[in-house]
Amino acid sequence: MKIAVLKERAPGETRVAATPETIKKFAGLGNDLAVESGAGVAAAISDAAFAEAGASVASAAEVVKDADIVLAIQAPDVALLKGAKPGAMVAALFDPFQKGDVVEAYAKAGLEALSMEFMPRITRAQGMDVLSSQSNLSGYKAVLAAADTYGRAFPMMMTAAGTVQAAKCFVMGVGVAGLQAIATARRLGAQVSATDVRSATKEQIESLGAKAIFVEDVEGIEGEGSGGYATEMSDEYKAAQAKLVSEHIAKQDIVITTALIPGRAAPVLITDAQIATMKPGSVIYDLAVAQGGNVEGSVADEVVEKHGVKIIGYSNTPATLPADASALFARNHFTMFQAFWDKEAGKPEFDEEIGDAIRLTKGGEVVNERLKG
Ligand code: NAI
Repeated sequence: MKIAVLKERAPGETRVAATPETIKKFAGLGNDLAVESGAGVAAAISDAAFAEAGASVASAAEVVKDADIVLAIQAPDVALLKGAKPGAMVAALFDPFQKGDVVEAYAKAGLEALSMEFMPRITRAQGMDVLSSQSNLSGYKAVLAAADTYGRAFPMMMTAAGTVQAAKCFVMGVGVAGLQAIATARRLGAQVSATDVRSATKEQIESLGAKAIFVEDVEGIEGEGSGGYATEMSDEYKAAQAKLVSEHIAKQDIVITTALIPGRAAPVLITDAQIATMKPGSVIYDLAVAQGGNVEGSVADEVVEKHGVKIIGYSNTPATLPADASALFARNHFTMFQAFWDKEAGKPEFDEEIGDAIRLTKGGEVVNERLKG
């Protein structure tokens, strides 16, 4: 099969969907690889490195011509995919709930869109899960960016000129990003606390040496929906959470928010009134900004200041670590195709559980259950 890798075109996107390592591995399955010239430059991968790994490096049109599979980070515009084989597979992030028009366009073009963010949360799919691989890096980088913006140090320092107090860092939402944020803030020497709606995270927070801040004695405390994801909480829970957060947040220097609910706008966890109670010079990093934000007043791709508090809202945090983010994303792609590679047929044959979950379009139709009705 011919597998094509295009240069990403979304503003601010620095990642690339393949690396020399995955090019070699895909070639090992018997495929021809074609990479658009310049595709890896922002991730520190030269055209020569791709060529050395066995890919042909060419223009977008040449790369896409007769491709059976296209690998991307963000789904390319369908206009770019003219020339690909009819029914070609495109594996990428589609943001399907927010970009219905893109999904429709893929259906109309007769392409098979495979949405990497719809990967089910099952043990055997862990190595294919781009949300995990990228969130882990986001959690790390959010803490570094917050530390860089904060006008004070993170660790306690006892010096001849006096003591520097340790920063207090609060992580809201303890999934993949939150856990890495806790670990990173701890490594930098901050005093760390964290909260989540899923009570299972309490133990994880404590095992990382941070303090768990949890709503107690309220109906619907469990907060765990299908596949390990959070559910929308009751009004009673939300009120109790708001009170708890208000008391805690006023004492924090750094807040990292990561809370997401699949298919819905991110829950607002910090209001403007709560920000007003924080100390001037404090920093909030809203990792959910692209899904509407956890913080009232956060703005995508901007650092805004409210009541003396800086709110960082980069919408594509993994793109600030392009080399590692690309390497992990590319491995997720390869792990998925390899798991379903039918050696005799020389092409992927997805099973129902994963294939039906990630396939958005096929045969000219939108076929994914989550997008119907
Ligand atoms: P996510 O990115 O969907 O959400 C981030 C966190 O925000 C979650 O922990 C969620 O519970 C929390 N949250 C949602 N609403 C909240 C609210 N109102 N207040 C406070 N926190 C709130 O979640 P993520 O990071 O993708 O992981 C969720 C779980 O799934 C984790 O336990 C993770 O280990 C598991 N997982 C399993 C995988 C697999 O088995 N293949 C792959 C990825 C994750």
